[in-house]
Amino acid sequence: MNYTEGFGLLKGKKGLIFGALDDRSIAWRVALACHREGASFALSNAPVALRLGSLKELSEKTGAPVIPCDVSKEDEVEKLMLDVKEQVGQLDFILHAIGMSPNVRKSKPYEDLNYTFFQQTLDISAISLHKVIHYANATGTLNDGASILALTYIGAQRIFSKYSDMNDAKALLESIARNYGSRLGERGIRVNTVSQAPTITSAGSGIKGFDGMFTFAEKMSPLGNPTADDCADYCVTLFSDLTRKVTMQNLFHDGGFVTNGISEELMQDLFDLHAKKHEG
Ligand SMILES: NC(=O)c1ccc[n+]([C@@H]2O[C@H](COP(=O)([O-])OP(=O)(O)OC[C@H]3O[C@@H](n4cnc5c(N)ncnc54)[C@H](O)[C@@H]3O)[C@@H](O)[C@H]2O)c1
Repeated sequence: MNYTEGFGLLKGKKGLIFGALDDRSIAWRVALACHREGASFALSNAPVALRLGSLKELSEKTGAPVIPCDVSKEDEVEKLMLDVKEQVGQLDFILHAIGMSPNVRKSKPYEDLNYTFFQQTLDISAISLHKVIHYANATGTLNDGASILALTYIGAQRIFSKYSDMNDAKALLESIARNYGSRLGERGIRVNTVSQAPTITSAGSGIKGFDGMFTFAEKMSPLGNPTADDCADYCVTLFSDLTRKVTMQNLFHDGGFVTNGISEELMQDLFDLHAKKHEG
C-alpha cells in the first residue's frame, strides 16, 4: 500500500467534520485524508458558509452528507447531532475547525474591542466546542473510545498582536478541551487540540499582518511551516486507534517553531538589517 492510497487507519470509523469552506480550509484537507483512510463522515458548516463556499464539491468527492449548523445556536447544535446520528451513525471522531473574530475582521485594536464582537469571538471560536461535545454526549451520538480534536494556534500561549481577541479565544478553547478530556476519559474518549502553524486559508488570510506571521514562522521553524495537508495527516493519526491513550493535550504541529529560540536564517536577517542601518 502506498501513501496516496492511505493506510486504512480509519476503516469503519464514523465522524463529523466542522469548518470546511473551500479547498484551502484545513477541515477540507482533513476530510479528504479521512476519506482516503476509509472513514465515513458528515460535513457541517454555518448556513451562510454553505451558500458562499463550495462544500457541495467536497460532499460529492467523499460521499459525505452536508448538515448545516451555526454553532453559536444551541438548538441547531442539538438538531445537528440528532441528524448526524440518523444519517451517519454514532461518532468515533469529531473535528472542530471553527474560528471567527469580528474584531479581527474589522481591525479593532485589542485596547478598543467591541464587546459584542468579543462575545461572538469567544462563542463561535471556543464555547462552540463545549456545545458540540455537550450535545454529542447528551443525544447519545458519541461512541465510547471516540477522539475529539479542535484546531488552535500558539496565540493561546504567546501573544501575537494582530491575532487580537483570537489569542483569548484559543486559550479558552484549549481549556475546554482539557476540561472535557478529564471528564470523558472514563469512556475512553479523548479530547485534544492541535496547534497548527500559520496556514494560507480564508480565516488565515483574513488576519491583517498574516503574511508577516506566516514568514516569521516559516523562518523560525527547523522543518518549515506545515501545510493544511500535513495537518490533515496528523489529525488522521489522532483519530486513529494508534493514539488511544493521548488526551487533554495541546499538540504543536508547527515544524518546531514553539521550541526554537532563533534560527540561523532569522539571525542572518537581523545582522543584515543592522548592517544596513549603519551603512550610511
Ligand atoms: N489558517 C491558519 O493559519 C490557522 C492556524 C492555526 C489554527 N487555525 C484554526 O484552524 C481552524 C480552521 O480554520 P482555517 O484556517 O481552515 O480557515 P477557514 O476559514 O477555512 O475555516 C474556518 C471555518 O469556521 C466556520 N465558521 C465560522 N463561523 C461559524 C459558525 N457560527 N458556525 C459554524 N461554522 C462557522 C467558517 O465557515 C469556516 O468554514 C480554525 O479554528 C482556525 O483558528 C488556523
